[in-house]
Amino acid sequence: MEELISKLKKAKTVTVISGAGISAESGIPTFRDAGGYWKNHSAETLATPQAFAKNPKLVTEWYEMRMQKCFESSPNEGHFVIAEFEKFFPNFLLITQNVDGLHTRAGSKKMIELHGNIYRFRCTKCKQKIQFEKPTTENPIKCKSCKSIMRPDILWFGENYDLLVLGEAYMFAKRSDIIFVIGTSGMVTVPMQIAMEGINAGAYSIEINPEKSTIHKSISVSFQEKSGIVLPKILNILKSK
Ligand code: OAD
Repeated sequence: MEELISKLKKAKTVTVISGAGISAESGIPTFRDAGGYWKNHSAETLATPQAFAKNPKLVTEWYEMRMQKCFESSPNEGHFVIAEFEKFFPNFLLITQNVDGLHTRAGSKKMIELHGNIYRFRCTKCKQKIQFEKPTTENPIKCKSCKSIMRPDILWFGENYDLLVLGEAYMFAKRSDIIFVIGTSGMVTVPMQIAMEGINAGAYSIEINPEKSTIHKSISVSFQEKSGIVLPKILNILKSK
């Protein structure tokens, strides 16, 4: 505990990598826990370019159902604490795998949405994007410019990350004093490689997750509890500076 307090108080550059678990307390299902999306649906039929090519109506419907769910949910303590981190650490970056927009609604600004955003669609032809303020049931969604069909602006299985965004994430993690890994199983490798970039460069790492993530063994300190419980305690340590 003493080491944690000292690291938190000295840290200037901090990266948070978040996953679906941080939104679990907001009532949004994760992917791989009991009741998670990938327990009831096959990712191949919903979250691949092939799935969209085969059945765009079904895929659009599924993302619109999730958009509705995200819209009805509210950020929880965990999201709010992460937004507050920006005040405490001079250099801060949140790298989220979540597409639910809850970090933004909690006030986070220094953030990369690595896997896209559930409220955004992009044209399959001219790449123009549209951001919905409220859930839509329009299906198919047609591009206002070229009238082609639009797809969720989400990174699907088998697709490549944006290299510029990825470069920024790796560079930031590498020079971080602390890396938080919160609410992710670590089953998607790239976000964990970003975390490991920082950890291998000497960052102190903090995992918050009731279960162990795939990189658990490389972590300096693990809190096997819900993020909505642990993060306010971390904030109290920072406030007691
Ligand atoms: P997963 O569903 O794989 O993992 C969720 C993690 O959250 C698990 O390790 C849980 O133990 C943990 N968890 C559950 N409740 C929690 C709580 N209250 N506090 C803290 N942790 C909790 O979700 P991700 O790791 O985010 O990709 O999945 C990564 C990516 O795989 C997602 O971004 C998604 C999916 O396919 C795309 O949609 C592109």
